[in-house]
Amino acid sequence: MERLQKVIASAGYTSRRKAEELIVAGKVSVNGKIVRELGTKVSGDDLILVNGESLEREDKVYFLLNKPRGVVSTVSDEANRKKVIDYINTNKRIYPIGRLDYDTTGLIILTNDGALANALMHPSHSVEKTYVAKLNRVMTPQDQKLLKQGVKVEGVKCIPTRVKVRKVDYEHDSCIVEITIVEGRNHIIKRVFESLGYLVDKLTRIQYGFLTLDNLKSGEYRALSIKEVKKLYEYSKK
Ligand code: URA
Repeated sequence: MERLQKVIASAGYTSRRKAEELIVAGKVSVNGKIVRELGTKVSGDDLILVNGESLEREDKVYFLLNKPRGVVSTVSDEANRKKVIDYINTNKRIYPIGRLDYDTTGLIILTNDGALANALMHPSHSVEKTYVAKLNRVMTPQDQKLLKQGVKVEGVKCIPTRVKVRKVDYEHDSCIVEITIVEGRNHIIKRVFESLGYLVDKLTRIQYGFLTLDNLKSGEYRALSIKEVKKLYEYSKK
């Protein structure tokens, strides 16, 4: 038996606080009866309606995938291209938290936990993400300085938390830059470098918050531990 507000929140319907408000406002019924007491406990067999809609209660699953190149991060694709969800063996309706471009590789989290996904994607709870970018030219010290100070993309400054030039190849005029940002605008890394006059030839996400790729090969995935999921929830409270 679990508390009603917890069950509503973990179904991804809304936050626990909002769930409490809904209960008190008489918007929640259990087995056909309106319930206004916050301490009410429910079991898996109880029929819960929120605002007249039945609450879907599925076990939550969480996966970390090393996304290969040439794969879309959406759950459906008109062009029938390979999708990130195709790599995960589950019968749950999972979706990725945020997106990586078709040609970007690396760490992506997939879940059916709408509450966590919404919380982590919300700009106010942005999580640090670290990328490794291969650029089409050696980056000048001046541009490195500009990048560290922050670069405007469509009028909004993106200030990296960390920037490190990992490798410089003068012979082929290219370099590898490690960059950490918190924001999540689409194509943000490519656009940041573009605004400084560089093209990103290759892009990999190596870290999402405290999570790293470790030994996962391209296309491989693993389930997150309960401890890791709890730690991800911590971000949404910050
Ligand atoms: N920034 C990009 O440009 N592409 C990604 O896939 C992720 C971040």
